[in-house]
Amino acid sequence: PSRGDNIADLMRHNLGPREWDILRRAGEAAAGLGYRVFAAGGVVRDILLGAGNLDVDLVVEGDGIALAEALAASGEGRVRAHRHFGTAEVLFPDGFKVDVATARVEYYEFPAALPRVESSSIRQDLYRRDFTINAMAVDLNGEHFGDLVDYFGGREDLQQGLIRVLYNLSFIEDPTRLLRAVRFEQRYRFTIEPQTLKLVQEAVQREVLQRVSVERLWDELKHILMEPAAGKMLDRLDRLGIWPFVFPGVTYWEVQPVLSGLDRAIKMLQDWDFLDGVEGWLCYFIAALHWSTPEAAAELCRRYHLNKRQTEKVLNSVQNWRQVLSTVWKQNNHRPNSELAHLILALPREAYPLLLSLLEEEWMRHRFHQLLLLIRESRPTVDGKYIKSLGYRPGPVFRRALDAVWQARLDGQVKNSDEEKAFIQEFLRRHQGEI
Ligand code: CTP
Repeated sequence: PSRGDNIADLMRHNLGPREWDILRRAGEAAAGLGYRVFAAGGVVRDILLGAGNLDVDLVVEGDGIALAEALAASGEGRVRAHRHFGTAEVLFPDGFKVDVATARVEYYEFPAALPRVESSSIRQDLYRRDFTINAMAVDLNGEHFGDLVDYFGGREDLQQGLIRVLYNLSFIEDPTRLLRAVRFEQRYRFTIEPQTLKLVQEAVQREVLQRVSVERLWDELKHILMEPAAGKMLDRLDRLGIWPFVFPGVTYWEVQPVLSGLDRAIKMLQDWDFLDGVEGWLCYFIAALHWSTPEAAAELCRRYHLNKRQTEKVLNSVQNWRQVLSTVWKQNNHRPNSELAHLILALPREAYPLLLSLLEEEWMRHRFHQLLLLIRESRPTVDGKYIKSLGYRPGPVFRRALDAVWQARLDGQVKNSDEEKAFIQEFLRRHQGEI
């Protein structure tokens, strides 16, 4: 084991002041209790890479819950303990969160089952983890503060850019690691090490992912869909034969052209400021299903327990993108902008990356950008509150009045908020009978 490398300077440099302070205090709390405590897993990897990671995971040789309580007491935190697992979360008043675990060996009762927990040391805790780069720890105790704990060559693999499992049964015991291997490989532009790649292929051939619960599978898939390089990750899932297990019934090559352009399309829309508040993972999910029938898309939404609002967005997109595409991007289109904007507005914003990715020509992307700008500039300044202030009770006519004023703005019929108000009053007067 390589003990001795001290990375305290790197920690001070690459961690935020809050994280740094918590790690110092965890060390002090452990000393008071006679325990040893370590920061372990992703946070160590990201300290060494100089990448930001706000997830602090502590591993305690001793009673993890007692340490969590001592740490919480040092900063007015609350503890949520899971006694069965010897783990706890410490939540501080400013929203900062630390996970604490008791050093343990995980005995899997059978593949893909929840672990049964037994107390043990840091080495064994690290050995049960997914990849060498995630199986390092940092000592937080007194004079050892900052000592790197690297039994399995994690630092070396980090330098070489290799994803390597610690033992041959790793993917059998926890098949979700197949998705994790791809996620870390593509996120850091690493390579899956040859022997590990063989184990990946064997596990895929044995269809181990079939035995994983849909909840755990979705959890890892969603992590992938939330990454900025999700498109590349999905491509890698396909090349490794994993795609059919996560998107059953969806033919990858049909959606590949769109997915391969999606990372860029999302980036572009973000730069244009049109994706604020949008769930990024849903953009990929919609793009992955755009070639599916509504029934097949609905089936996958059910499988992964998407909620009603998310499912509606998926189905709306799957059913309507073709019509939007063929109407808005027809050459020599002489329809009014308001009509084109209306079509775009009827799609959820999560479908915009799909649209943009489908646009092959520069003039098409340009028109999209222009329409989005127009939509934004034309957003009326009046809203439902104004209509209420006129004495009307909220009802369907509100939506129609606001849509009408938006449309009028898009077409240049009204130009400022006074004209909007006049327009709305006139609209409501004309629709008196329907209110
Ligand atoms: N881990 C594991 N096997 C899994 C999931 C997690 O061994 N199936 C271990 C890894 O050591 C990992 C740590 O638990 O580093 C924390 O997992 P997680 O929070 O999912 O990942 P991070 O490594 O923190 O990565 P990210 O940057 O994506 O949060």
